[in-house]
Amino acid sequence: MSLSTLLARRLLFTVGKGGVGRTTVTLALALEAARRGKRVLVVELEGARGLERALAGLRLGAGSHQGLDRITYLAVDGQAALEEYLAMVIPVRRVLTTIFDSAVYQYFVAAAPGLKELMAVGKIWYEADRAGTGDDEAPDIVVVDAPATGHSLQYLRMPQAALEAFPVGLVHTEAERVVALLRDSAATAAVVVSTAEEMPANETLEIFAGLEGIGLSIAALVLNQVHGAPCEDAVLTRLGEAVSMGESADEPLFAQAVRRAEEEAGWARINARHVARLRHATGTSTAVFPYLFCEEFGAEQVVDLTEVLRAQMDGEPR
Ligand SMILES: Nc1ncnc2c1ncn2[C@@H]1O[C@H](COP(=O)(O)OP(=O)(O)OP(=O)(O)O)[C@@H](O)[C@H]1O
Ligand SMILES: [Mg+2]
Repeated sequence: MSLSTLLARRLLFTVGKGGVGRTTVTLALALEAARRGKRVLVVELEGARGLERALAGLRLGAGSHQGLDRITYLAVDGQAALEEYLAMVIPVRRVLTTIFDSAVYQYFVAAAPGLKELMAVGKIWYEADRAGTGDDEAPDIVVVDAPATGHSLQYLRMPQAALEAFPVGLVHTEAERVVALLRDSAATAAVVVSTAEEMPANETLEIFAGLEGIGLSIAALVLNQVHGAPCEDAVLTRLGEAVSMGESADEPLFAQAVRRAEEEAGWARINARHVARLRHATGTSTAVFPYLFCEEFGAEQVVDLTEVLRAQMDGEPR
């Protein structure tokens, strides 16, 4: 799938295991969409504000990058979305405050299974529904930095569960609209992020099955933090021999460098195996992001990875 096709969607969910790079990929997608002139809303779904911090860092560090001012941020939290909704249907402030302060309400919100998740997805639906309407205030695309795997699926399953639990009425009608958007592959897609290692790769295959069960189309797989071989195997073998024979004058430093190179080559082999495995098992268009060595991962790296995304999905030379 080309990037233009991917970014023509109104709603993208970045899904994956914890720590694999969901926030980084969300920003790369947002940056690329903004560079193409789109107004982008990035949504952090129950995150610990990692996306907000990373976006602030990007604004500071990549000031001249085209389109950053077209990106806006929204934190979506289920309880806040529920309160916003209740404020819409109960316009009397005094009544509302009494409800919110009551122990019964607090108990209800904490105990009702899936209520917060349902309200959060409803809020995202509301934002995505405005997207593409031509409204000047509305974004063209909404990119959601979803929580780590299991929790993401819990959110995305909730509208269908509500549809089944309430066969008629307001909740049914609202849930029906959300489910319709999630299943509309021309409007909505997931971008799955993983690293190319045993456990994350296994979890990624589970995510694919989970998303397919929900009916959410998977547009792309990003394999992040992929190590490359530092040199040819034969060279590495020769260097290893040189270390064991004590050939170098600068022994400890040389030995350390060779050991690091061997370690890196080991990671490269593991990563290559899982890249091939995931490509084969999922049959999804895949972008491979290199592991970037840096003192502090920040704006420069995100801009770099955006270029990698463009090069890999659109064949644009870097
Ligand atoms: N391509 C890369 N090369 C090197 N380091 C990377 C790369 N991508 C991500 N990282 C490192 O991994 C960290 C986690 O990335 P990121 O915050 O995007 O992951 P996440 O999936 O959103 O994590 P969380 O589950 O905590 O929200 C980054 O802060 C960065 O240090
Ligand atoms: Mg994150």
